[in-house]
Amino acid sequence: ALLSTDELKALVRTVPDFPKPGIQFRDITTLIGHPVGMADSVQHLAQLAKACGAQKIAGMEARGFIFGAAVAVELGIGFLPVRKPGKLPIETIGIDYALEYGVDRLEVDPGAIGKGEAIVIVDDLIATGGTALATAQLLRSAGANVENALFVIDLPDLGGAAKLRDAGLTVQTLMEFE
Ligand code: PRP
Ligand code: HPA
Repeated sequence: ALLSTDELKALVRTVPDFPKPGIQFRDITTLIGHPVGMADSVQHLAQLAKACGAQKIAGMEARGFIFGAAVAVELGIGFLPVRKPGKLPIETIGIDYALEYGVDRLEVDPGAIGKGEAIVIVDDLIATGGTALATAQLLRSAGANVENALFVIDLPDLGGAAKLRDAGLTVQTLMEFE
């Protein structure tokens, strides 16, 4: 049997005062460094992605690559890297999105997205939801059918999952930290 999501949660390390005083940083390094923790996190996500009818997995640089690529391999489907700006060697499409201070940008290869393709978003963690919402908008603008987003960790107090649900996405997560 797989480790339960409660057992997986116990493998996440909490680091106080990172990156700023007062923040309790939920660190996946310990989860993915554990052989069964890594494998079973991927299995749980893959079960959810399969039930969503995923035809491709999109993962956001950098931590989304860790889980997203593994889920794609498990399901025998392709992986789409959603990249930080200036990394892809071809003409990209991108989206700018607001951070607490300033803006950030994500880019993809539009040629990697099929019209109507069912793409499921996978990332390690949802906080404010800005990264995932921008990703969904970007993939939809390229013609993908984006209805589902999966995360290992939800920080519900930051409201990201609620924001995605307001935008019509189905959000599933393996664990929550307040
Ligand atoms: C983290 C995390 C998510 C995002 C969540 O990535 O992996 O992608 O932040 O935050 P949000 O819901 O408020 O948008 P980060 O930008 O730190 O990049 P990294 O994966 O390269 O560490
Ligand atoms: N852990 C990891 N990434 C994060 C967090 C956190 O607690 N908050 C925002 N991004």
